[in-house]
Amino acid sequence: MFWSKTILNWFNQHGRHHLPWRNTRDPYAICVSEYMLQQTQVERVIPKYEAWLATFPTWEILAQAKTADVLRLWSGLGYNSRALRLQKLAQVVVDHYQGKLPDNAAELVKLPGIGPYTAAALSSFAFEKEIVVIDTNIERIVLRYFWAEPEAKRARVTTLLEEVIIEASKKKVVFSRFFFQGLMDFGSAICKAKPLCTICPLRESCQAFAKQQFLVKRPKQSHFPHSRRFYRGQLIKTLHSKQKLTLAELAKDYDIQKYSWPEIVQGLEKDGLIAVHEEGEPYVTLPGEV
Ligand code: ADE
Repeated sequence: MFWSKTILNWFNQHGRHHLPWRNTRDPYAICVSEYMLQQTQVERVIPKYEAWLATFPTWEILAQAKTADVLRLWSGLGYNSRALRLQKLAQVVVDHYQGKLPDNAAELVKLPGIGPYTAAALSSFAFEKEIVVIDTNIERIVLRYFWAEPEAKRARVTTLLEEVIIEASKKKVVFSRFFFQGLMDFGSAICKAKPLCTICPLRESCQAFAKQQFLVKRPKQSHFPHSRRFYRGQLIKTLHSKQKLTLAELAKDYDIQKYSWPEIVQGLEKDGLIAVHEEGEPYVTLPGEV
């Protein structure tokens, strides 16, 4: 198919082949990258990914690590519960899967923290299964190029991509791994929220270009101050460098308007992101610290 061939050719020439998780076949390393990339930009992930693998190079080492150390290494990536889920996944892989990730999406999706996207991405990128992978970039490109009707969007995108995979599978070459990483890169370099149509090799046959109507992604959740998420993040960040914090210290350092610290603390404790110590003056630490 013309469009998929064009993407592959573009990827060969312009793809981000240097990304470290593309130069390994270790399913653990690829899984770490996918967890980090879930809500964090590629450039911010690269150094964290390298540091993570240097400190926790295997499922076994991650499974046994102190949770406080796991959260400290995650610092700067945001959405801290991803770090906990990744460690939980390591424990499940070690305890129930002989230290090896299952190689297919149907099994992968049963594991903690692995949703349909990550299951598909892992089976394609780590295990070379010929499977459809859809993230927001990929969806945006397909919707623009084919100008799918707004209803039944995801189903339409899946069908269009399945057609490509079925066609390619006849050739018995590894395809999905390159094609979908190619689409990801194409989405971040060319078919962005504000698309660069003048340099797009698909322009002539693109429906969105013909109509001059470009679907735009809804904006990301903001980091605006005074949200609950903001204060949760602040507290974890403070604990990266400070062993413990009393509630009095918290109240002094941050002027909370809408949410009170006890509520934030309770929520974080419930999610396993901090431990609350009630002896004497109450204080909080990262999990597993005293
Ligand atoms: N390469 C592999 N997975 C990726 C992702 N989620 N985002 C960007 N590049 C990737």
